[in-house]
Amino acid sequence: MEKLILSGTVQLETSRFILRKFQMSDAHDIYTNWLSDNDSAKYNAWKVHSSIEVTKEYLSDWIDYYKKNDYLHWAVVDKGTKEVIGSVTVSNIKKRKKYCEIGYTIAKKLWNQGIATEVLIRALNYLTMEAGFEKVCALHDIRNTASGKVMQKAGMKFVKNKMQIFFNSSNFIVKCCLYEYQRYGDTPL
Ligand SMILES: CC(C)(COP(=O)(O)OP(=O)(O)OC[C@H]1O[C@@H](n2cnc3c(N)ncnc32)[C@H](O)[C@@H]1OP(=O)(O)O)[C@@H](O)C(=O)NCCC(=O)NCCS
Repeated sequence: MEKLILSGTVQLETSRFILRKFQMSDAHDIYTNWLSDNDSAKYNAWKVHSSIEVTKEYLSDWIDYYKKNDYLHWAVVDKGTKEVIGSVTVSNIKKRKKYCEIGYTIAKKLWNQGIATEVLIRALNYLTMEAGFEKVCALHDIRNTASGKVMQKAGMKFVKNKMQIFFNSSNFIVKCCLYEYQRYGDTPL
């Protein structure tokens, strides 16, 4: 049986963006563009950072985790400005089932320009066609309609509504929509 090829956070590219590992010098962009922003955190399992020092602590951990070949966490970098304008994260990897989950965040000042869709399509393509995952799922808070739109536009299929506990935050239970992307799905990208 074909095995997963987990090579850590390898660099990917789309027409407008580079997806690469985070670096310590990204702290300002990350903090300013989403980790300090209440609207970005609103429907998600993380709390806004109270200062850039907190962001630096997280960033230092992320950089440490890059030693692991199953740690996939991309910075989305604008090719023109070189600014870090978002992130894509892979979680809950089940190696034998070839299953994982994906999440993403884009800087508020750039919402509704198709950016999340563009990077999600590339990440799904990488995860299924290059790393060998059979199924990639994503969950969004039912009120986070924009995220649902992104999943649909990237070729993911709605599966069901699901109650989910959001840890890291206030451990609250939220109603989510579950989407999945199958390696051999019928939606050509
Ligand atoms: C969700 C998020 C990633 C979308 O990023 P983005 O780059 O703006 O996404 P896109 O531009 O590719 O697509 C957004 C779509 O949502 C639609 N949309 C935006 N706000 C909406 C709203 N309130 N209601 C319905 N649709 C909405 C846009 O019109 C667009 O669809 P369209 O292309 O059919 O017009 C961004 O809002 C974000 O980072 N939010 C905070 C973090 C987050 O919630 N991440 C997802 C976790 S599941």
